[in-house]
Amino acid sequence: MKKITSSCISSSFLIILLSSISTVKSSVEQNIDIKRSDFPHGFLFGAATSAYQIEGAFHEDGKSLNNWDVFCRIKGSIANGENGDIADDHYHRYMEDIEIMHSLGLSAYRFSISWSRVLPRGKFGGVNRAGIMFYNKIIDNLILRGIEPFVTIHHNDYPQELGDRHGGWLSPLMQEDFVHFAETCFKNFGDRVRYWTTINEPNLFAEMGYESATFPPARCSPPFGNCANGNSDIEPLIAVHNMLLAHAKAAKFIVVHAYMYTPLTEDEADKEAAKRALAFNVAWILDPLVFGDYPPEMKRHHGSELPTFSSEERSLLRDSIDFIGINHYSTLYAKDCIHSSCICNDSSCIQGSDRPIRGFVYTSGDRDGVTIGEPTAMAQLFVVPRGMEDIVNYVKERYNNKPMFVTENGYSSPVSKNDDYQNDVKRIHFHKSYLAYLARAIRNGADVRGYFIWSLMDSFEWSSGYAPKFGLYHIDPSTLNRIPKLSAGWYGDFLSNSTLVDVKFSNTVSM
Ligand code: NOJ
Repeated sequence: MKKITSSCISSSFLIILLSSISTVKSSVEQNIDIKRSDFPHGFLFGAATSAYQIEGAFHEDGKSLNNWDVFCRIKGSIANGENGDIADDHYHRYMEDIEIMHSLGLSAYRFSISWSRVLPRGKFGGVNRAGIMFYNKIIDNLILRGIEPFVTIHHNDYPQELGDRHGGWLSPLMQEDFVHFAETCFKNFGDRVRYWTTINEPNLFAEMGYESATFPPARCSPPFGNCANGNSDIEPLIAVHNMLLAHAKAAKFIVVHAYMYTPLTEDEADKEAAKRALAFNVAWILDPLVFGDYPPEMKRHHGSELPTFSSEERSLLRDSIDFIGINHYSTLYAKDCIHSSCICNDSSCIQGSDRPIRGFVYTSGDRDGVTIGEPTAMAQLFVVPRGMEDIVNYVKERYNNKPMFVTENGYSSPVSKNDDYQNDVKRIHFHKSYLAYLARAIRNGADVRGYFIWSLMDSFEWSSGYAPKFGLYHIDPSTLNRIPKLSAGWYGDFLSNSTLVDVKFSNTVSM
């Protein structure tokens, strides 16, 4: 019998607003006086990371090569030819990192387990005891310091052997391998870990790997790109289908990346397009896990391309989550492409901040040359604090106010700003303003139980390498020393200026 606890679907949503949010600030933003005590008793405040992005030690103590170790070695895959071989060297410095978390006063830490460190050959080989010991030490030391471990089982990395044997998530065989991995984690860590999420952002992971080819296994077809193999229209649907079933077979939680969208114009067709964009990104993952099937909007538009669930699968999926996790960063405009033509030549859509998405919607962070919010280091992410409230309300309404966690929210300084680590006042402003909107959503009834800053420290940002900086801590490139940014000081103060530091959990579930 698996011992699992609460579950969490984390979805990141970009929210798009019709009004010019970048220039007109609402009263929430003008007067940001956000305090920890504005949040409910027991609300978790944490920071998040993931294994490949920080651990390093890529070939140490029995860990096998994973999909990213291999992908990073393909010329041209990653900006500046970078990789996660050493990353932040967290594998060797985890104690220092836990001390940092403790000094900040975090009540929770969200991290992921490296699949290839624990099961180097998936279910085709044994458990690597050194890998289990590593995560045991992390979990035990977190708990000793009163920090709740919030564990993601699969965050983008899997043993390369599973890529070679199954072709990654395109194959239903990955479902069984994932279940084996999840059960290995529950068996070894489930006595102490109460919060598990199964898969981080399956929607984004599928799009990057099988649509735009920016993540391994880098498959795609025009107009998304010219890869040797792939089908960008269909393969993301198949990969997500397999991940949903893998999730449902393993546990009660998953993490979804969800964008929020706002219509580009007042036109009814654009309003419909914004709703469609939400359905094709957020509800794509959440509807099956709450209602047992894909959203009606997707079924209407996809026809036979959309895989179908058997009735047994529908029952397995239905209500297979206890919590919804939201990774929220930004908002985009949505423009209808059914009733009007979307002028979007392939290169500008995919390389720039605009891109076509499924659902006959064209999304963009730009309207008439004005961005929806301040740009960041990531082309698709703009600072739109109000989007936090909108996405939380969308999820609250569509899923009958199921408990939520904001499992990621973070700011990456534009790459040209290399003073980020000395003076990151923009990051502080970002978190204060997003938190202010979150607090308002909670005051208006949304059942949100926690908030995690992405990220504890600067780290390997996938295909973008190390240039985008999301961390509260800067990593000195020559010494790998952790240097607190102003935002780390702000977060520590925010967390200590409260009478509500007592963390209690009432939502533990055993299966
Ligand atoms: C969400 C992903 O979970 C994480 O891996 C990534 O670094 C952040 N977004 C920032 O892009």
